[in-house]
Amino acid sequence: MRNESEIPFEDNPFKIPVADRLKRLPPYLFGKINKLKYQKRVAGIDVIDLGMGNPTDAPDPLIIEKMTEALQDPRNHRYSVANGIYNLRKEVSARYFKKYGVRLDPNDEVIACIGSKEGFSHMCLALMGPGDTAIVPAPSFPIHVYSVVLASGNVIALDVRDPAKFLSNVAYTCEHLFPKPKVVLVNFPHNPSSTCIEQDFYVELVKLAKKYGFLVISDFAYADVCYEGYKAPSFLATPGALDVGCEFTTMSKGYSMAGWRIGFCCGNKEMVRALATIKGYYDYGIFQAIQIAAIVAMRHSEAAVESMAVEYQQRRDVLVSGLQRLGWEVEAPKAGMFLWAKIPEPYAKMGSIDFAMKLLDEGGVAVSPGRGFGPEGEGYLRLAIVENSQRLRQAVRAIAKCTKQEPVAVGT
Ligand SMILES: Cc1ncc(COP(=O)(O)O)c(C=O)c1O
Repeated sequence: MRNESEIPFEDNPFKIPVADRLKRLPPYLFGKINKLKYQKRVAGIDVIDLGMGNPTDAPDPLIIEKMTEALQDPRNHRYSVANGIYNLRKEVSARYFKKYGVRLDPNDEVIACIGSKEGFSHMCLALMGPGDTAIVPAPSFPIHVYSVVLASGNVIALDVRDPAKFLSNVAYTCEHLFPKPKVVLVNFPHNPSSTCIEQDFYVELVKLAKKYGFLVISDFAYADVCYEGYKAPSFLATPGALDVGCEFTTMSKGYSMAGWRIGFCCGNKEMVRALATIKGYYDYGIFQAIQIAAIVAMRHSEAAVESMAVEYQQRRDVLVSGLQRLGWEVEAPKAGMFLWAKIPEPYAKMGSIDFAMKLLDEGGVAVSPGRGFGPEGEGYLRLAIVENSQRLRQAVRAIAKCTKQEPVAVGT
C-alpha cells in the first residue's frame, strides 16, 4: 500500500507563484523518454512507438463521412451543450442496453465528456477535497492518482494485479481509515497491467460500497478491446451499481477516435449531476460535428470495432510470442491494448526507466517504463500494441539486437 499524500511538496519549479496543488505534482517520469523520442524523430530516425495507448488506425470511413457532412452545417459550429446533445446521450444509453442489458435514462444518467480523462478529472474535482481519500489501483495510470491530488484529495494506491486481494485490501482500509475513503476507483481491463475481472468482482465491490458508504468510479476505457470471446463486464450491469457509482467509457480506443476527444460518464444520477455542474462552468461541450459523427459510429460501426479487436489480438500474439522467444516473461492479456512484461533477468537490476531508455536509444523502440506507473510498476515495461504486426516483428528484432538476446523456440 502506498500513500500518495506522503509525496513531499517540491520547491516551486515555476518562476511565478503557482498554486500549491501544482507543487504536489511529481516530476513527469516519462519526460526523459519523450524527450529522446522527440530528438530521434527530429533527426529523422524511425521510432517504433509502443509507448502510448494511442491508436494509429483510422476510424471507420463511415464516421469520417458523417463528420465531413456535419462540418458543412453552420449550426454545428456554434457552442454545443456541456452535457452533450440529447441524441448522443440517447445513443449511449441504447448501446449500454444492447451490450450490457443496462437501462440508463439519457436525461440524467448519461453525460458526454471531452474524452473520458476530462470527465474523470472533473468528477474528482466535483467529489474530492482536502481531507477526502480515494483508493486507486496500483500500478497506476497517472491520471487516476493525479486528478485526486489536483482536487486536493489523498490517494491510497492498492495493488490490483490480484483482484480478490484488492477487494480485501479495500475492506481492510475502510475498516481502519478514519475518515473512511470517499471514492474507490477501479479500471478493468486495467491500464497498465491488463488485469481483467469477471462480474462477481463488481458484485463484491457494490456490497463493500454499500457497507462502508464509498462511491465507485469505474474507468472502462478498454471495454471494446477484448480477445477470444472474453467480454469485459460493465460495472453498471451489477445489481445496485447505479446506487453507488458511475462508469466512464470512451470512443478513443475501440473506435480509434482518440484525437476526437469524446467519452461518456454514465450511472448514478447524483454523480452525473455533480459532474454536469462542474462542466456547466468549465466548458461548452464537444464540437457538435463530433457528437453527430459519434452517434453514427455507435449506430453503424460496431463491426469495425469488432474487427479492430481482432487486429489487436493478432498484434498481441505477434508481440507476445516474439518476446517469449527472447526469453521474456510476458502473458497474453485477455483484453486491453498493453503487454505488461517483466524486464528480462540480465537487465532487471538496471531499473525500468534506464532499460526503456536503452531500448529507445539503441533499438529505436519506445516503451513505457513500469516505474512511470508508481513503485509497484518497477521491474516491468508496458508495451502498447498500437503499431501493425510487421512493425511489431521489427520491434522484436531490434530488441533482440540491442539486448543481445538470441530467439529460441518457446518451451525450450
Ligand atoms: C485507463 C484509461 N482511462 C482513460 C484514458 C483516457 O481516455 P480518453 O481518450 O477518453 O480521455 C486512457 C487513455 O490512455 C486510459 O488508458
